[in-house]
Formats: sequence, C-alpha cells, structure tokens
Amino acid sequence: MENLVKYIERLPKAELHLHIEGTFEPELMFEIAARNHIPIKYNSVEELRSAYQFSNLQDFLDIYYAGAAVLQTEEDFYDLTWAYLERAHKDHVLHTEIFFDPQTHSANGVPLKIVIEGIHAALIDGHEKLGITSCLIMCFLRHLEESSALVLLEEALPYREWITAVGLDSSENGNPPEKFERVFSQAREYGFLTVAHAGEEGTAENIRNTIELLKVARIDHGNSCLSDDALVDLLKKRKIPLTLCPISNLKLKIIERLEDHPLLNMLQKGLMVTINSDDPAYFGGYINDNYVAVSRALNLDKEQLYQIARNSFLASFLPESTRLKYINHLNDHHYQICD
Ligand code: HPA
Ligand code: ZN
Repeated sequence: MENLVKYIERLPKAELHLHIEGTFEPELMFEIAARNHIPIKYNSVEELRSAYQFSNLQDFLDIYYAGAAVLQTEEDFYDLTWAYLERAHKDHVLHTEIFFDPQTHSANGVPLKIVIEGIHAALIDGHEKLGITSCLIMCFLRHLEESSALVLLEEALPYREWITAVGLDSSENGNPPEKFERVFSQAREYGFLTVAHAGEEGTAENIRNTIELLKVARIDHGNSCLSDDALVDLLKKRKIPLTLCPISNLKLKIIERLEDHPLLNMLQKGLMVTINSDDPAYFGGYINDNYVAVSRALNLDKEQLYQIARNSFLASFLPESTRLKYINHLNDHHYQICD
C-alpha cells in the first residue's frame, strides 16, 4: 500500500468536481471574517471543525452556506481560490474545473462581478505561477426557483468567455432536473456546456432525466445508477463520465462505509468514473486523500488508478492538444514507475 500511496502522490490528474466554497478552510474563514468584521458563531478553528458532523446532504449545506457568508470582497474570492490551487498543485492536479455558486453570494449582497473577478484573477495566477490549467462551471442552486437561475444566466453573459459550463447543485430531493429544463436549454443556446449533480441522494430516474432533459456532458456523483441496468448501458453507450467523490459520500452518509462505495463496480461495468474531492475543507480530504482512501477500501491496483486518472483528462473540457499533453505526462509517470 505504501508503494501505491507514492504512486498516487505524483500521479498527474484532473479534478472535475470541486466546489470552491467547499475549499474554505476554517483558518482562512477566521482570517477573512476578522478583516470583514463578520462574527462567527464558533470560538475557535477547532470548535468550528468539530461542528463538521453531517447526517445528510442538507445538514452539510446549512453549514456550508453559513460559511460562505463570510466571503465579501474580490480579495476574499481570490484568496479562497489561490489557497485551493496551491493545495491542488501539491496533489499533482494539472487541471481543475471549479464550481462556484453565485446565488449564494448574491443572497449575501455580493454581486457576480466581485465573485467571478476574484476567482478569475486567482486562476490566471494559478496558470502563470503553478502551471495549472482550469475552467469555471457556474452552478444554479436547485432549491431556488428556475426564474432566479434564468436571471443569473443573463447576468453571466458579459463573462461568457470565462465560464465553460453551467451546473446544478444543492438539495437534490424535491428539486428534480425537470425544474431546470428551460434554463439549461437557454444556457446551451448561449454556447455553455452543461453538467449537473444527480443520483447523490436521488434516484436512478433523476440521473436518466438529467441526461435526457438537461443534455449534460457529465453527471456529478451518479451513485444510484447501478440500480438500473438500462441506465448503465445508456451511460456507457454515450460515454457519459461520472465525477465520483468517495469521502464526500461517506461524510454525507450516502454510503455507510467506504468499502460499500460503488466505484469499483462501476469501473468493472465499463463506466467512465473519476475521483474528486467535492468540498474538501468540510469533508476532511483533498483529491489524493480520496484516491488513497478509496484504493484502500476497494483494493484498487495501479492499473485501475491509471485508468481513473486517464479518465479525468478524457472527461475534462480541455482542448484536445492539452488533453494529449497531460495524458503523455500520465503515461510517463505510469510506465516509469511500473517498470
Ligand atoms: N451536493 C449538492 N450540492 C453541493 C454539494 C454536493 O455534494 N457540495 C456543494 N454543493
Ligand atoms: Zn458536489
């Protein structure tokens, strides 16, 4: 296993399911809260961290939205994003596709311009100073009305060049993909790619409807697909990638034990699975922690990890030339270490 951990540490990879607000570490939260004169209801970093115990997705979302309220200025969004990029760089992430939730911030009086300009400036520096490539995925909050998502979509048009895709996150139960059919259709007309969370707490039917109605390029999570053989065939036939987040699933009690995670089963059925961290500051594990934990629990070998890392580049929104360059780096790592 030690050998495998070393292999994972330097394994070139892409992260495709990462909420920037979910990378907000308690230390940075206290620092930013102090400079913005915003009170935090916990007395210390330790006390805040110990509050991160969740029994389901909604439990987590309540704490996650409260944390995001500390973010007010362009500098805050820069610092948040920069901290994540430095951390991801250590895990040999060559490319990252970052979700952000503008509606969370506009509810706190922070306009899209502040949010996106802060994040974007950090992404530019991430490329220049760390060599990380990235793209942005603007998410709609599914617990809000579709009309609010439509307003956000129009507001985002001046930033069209900075946003690659739109996504859908927040509470899955009670907010099915049907609710967002029009806004996704409009987004596609504007030229955005689309992804959406589905089958995290929701059913296989939610995944199917997400594919058929929202015409997504990837499914975020997708855990429940194995309960429907025809859906598995559809995912395979259309080569729709799943962005899995094992530690998140454990912490939100989607699974009881990591040994129960469907990743290996999915891989064996020929699905295009990837490993990601979702909200690492809240779930206590960045991308390499996810690779290591799931490898231990499911006894994955180097060939399987290679395939998963390769999937991460194949499933990305990178231009073909960069994708091939990264897969060459991956091959160098794999064949050199496996010799
Ligand atoms: N699911 C849904 N919404 C989210 C998540 C998640 O795992 N993380 C942040 N927003
Ligand atoms: Zn997520």
